[in-house]
Amino acid sequence: MKRIVALLLLAAPFASFAQGSDPNLGIIPAPVSVTKGRGEFKFSPETMVLVDSPDSKPMKFFAEYLKKTDLATGVTDMSRLDKKPKSLKNTVVLSMNFKGELPPEGYELKITDDHVELRGHGAGMFYGMQTLIQLIHKTSPGSATIPCATIKDHPRFPYRGMHLDVSRHFFDVAFVKKYIDVMAMYKLNNFHWHLTDDQGWRIEIKKYPKLTEVGSMRAQTKVGRAAGPTAVPGAYDNTPHGGFYTQEQIREVVEYASSKFINVIPEIEMPSHSLAALAAYPEWSCDPTKTYKVGETWGSYDDVFCPTEETFKALFEILREVIDMFPGKYIHIGGDECNKVAWKKSEFCRQLIIDQKLKNEEGLQSYFIGRIEKYLNSQGVQMIGWDEILEGGLAPNATVMSWRGEKGGIAAAQLSHDVIMTPGSGGMYFDHVQSKSPQEPLSIGGFAPLEKTYNYDPIPSVLNDQQAKRILGVQANVWTEYIATPSKVEYMLLPRMLALSEVGWTPKNNKDYQEFAQQRIPGHLSNLEKIGYNYRVPVPIGAADTMISVKAAKYTITLAPSVAGAKIYYTIDESEPSENDMVYTTPLEYTVPSEGTVRFKCIQVTPAGKKSNVSTIMIQN
Ligand code: ACM
Repeated sequence: MKRIVALLLLAAPFASFAQGSDPNLGIIPAPVSVTKGRGEFKFSPETMVLVDSPDSKPMKFFAEYLKKTDLATGVTDMSRLDKKPKSLKNTVVLSMNFKGELPPEGYELKITDDHVELRGHGAGMFYGMQTLIQLIHKTSPGSATIPCATIKDHPRFPYRGMHLDVSRHFFDVAFVKKYIDVMAMYKLNNFHWHLTDDQGWRIEIKKYPKLTEVGSMRAQTKVGRAAGPTAVPGAYDNTPHGGFYTQEQIREVVEYASSKFINVIPEIEMPSHSLAALAAYPEWSCDPTKTYKVGETWGSYDDVFCPTEETFKALFEILREVIDMFPGKYIHIGGDECNKVAWKKSEFCRQLIIDQKLKNEEGLQSYFIGRIEKYLNSQGVQMIGWDEILEGGLAPNATVMSWRGEKGGIAAAQLSHDVIMTPGSGGMYFDHVQSKSPQEPLSIGGFAPLEKTYNYDPIPSVLNDQQAKRILGVQANVWTEYIATPSKVEYMLLPRMLALSEVGWTPKNNKDYQEFAQQRIPGHLSNLEKIGYNYRVPVPIGAADTMISVKAAKYTITLAPSVAGAKIYYTIDESEPSENDMVYTTPLEYTVPSEGTVRFKCIQVTPAGKKSNVSTIMIQN
């Protein structure tokens, strides 16, 4: 390496990323409107939290929250006060019983140095509390401050969802609740629980016990990835994998989610992705003489449910039990990736196509889904399916989840069907890799960096206003072929789920990626770390996910932590940086001799010791 001169610049460190100037006061998702005030409210041991509906879900939640902090002694029921307080000084007033309308799920929060007032009904009150909690800055034991502001807020979309595949890898109830907790913190309101697939059936069905006795366990798993840029040789792990939820556990999760205003949508896959069910009940396949075993490799399989009366009877009975466990208005029936190989081979299917005057196997898919929808509707339930349910004609009342880009969602909205947008191409597949760094863990492929997720707009510009109203909202999916542990689920989920929350909640005009990533994300990641979530540590602000390459004789490197409290370490001698290297504290100016190169390599290490990937800034003269 040639002579390199680094100057320490005198500018205040991190000044350009000061969080005090944040127009959104650090709140994620950014609210509809924030009017900053002067000063702050001081939460002290004398502060009284007054509520008007102590038995409601939000008030019980807030009482629990207070118990976990050392703030206030609890909530006080306003109606039990001997007399109305003369002044609201030093109180936090949470009211659900008030005159006047707010938009659905909306709230109003007013913080002055005298008192705090939050108004909202049901979910609106709950979301106002989430905002309030984000604004509480602990100062000393028993005390905190809240910045003065007036916030008016409500979501852009009624449907804000997160999906979790528990079939490819099973995750226990405790983890599912932790997943629900972080969804609620960010005002997401639908948990799509992918409960059945080729590689495992995860929900107890009393009428068909073999679904879990046989279908919930696979003998082994082919690990590694055979193709693509992250290829590693595939081999079987010789380890059985499985698990399922009892009906009691399912009900427990549903109730838990409901206490946080999250609706749970179960997905029972059909006609494809049903190998685990066929392993248990081969009579539901088109060739019952074959032996089926629970899937041990990823991808989709040729063997699918056969549309016989016996299969429909069983599926209706299964769905009836499912409906009894999930009180929400939706059941997801999958419908994706049915390759029709088994149907094409089947004499029964050939005859059914003729009898039902269908065109072909695509018509048979439409017939299959149509019968399922008719049954669900007769039980008072709405059906959701992946966008393949458009094949051969859409069932009359179906809601479409558009995953293969937006095409299916656009077509469905134009046909006046409800749509939930979740395109892989829009950064909504959280199993996709978060950066092109070779240090990213093994994943299924695809590319969904934080910024791509953040910038997704669920309303395609080709839709007119009437059609756009059919877009109920947005969802991101966590498929778990290459995600075997809770810690890796969290790594893939966070911080992208925070971007999703803003896609679903924040008015389009209030969105600003730079402000989100630089001013708000650092505080949130630091908090998520403190409360025990794993997450992907971004590279420092000012660095790039892999490399920035510049041509210059002089260049100033200005960085800031993207996790509050994290430290940045760097090298310029081509070695991989570690905690033993130089600590970045202030902008560094490099003078690069003619024909010279500086390779500045940095990592960020969080207070808990989590590390970012290595990022390189290469300056060539
Ligand atoms: C899907 O990703 N197959 C819906």
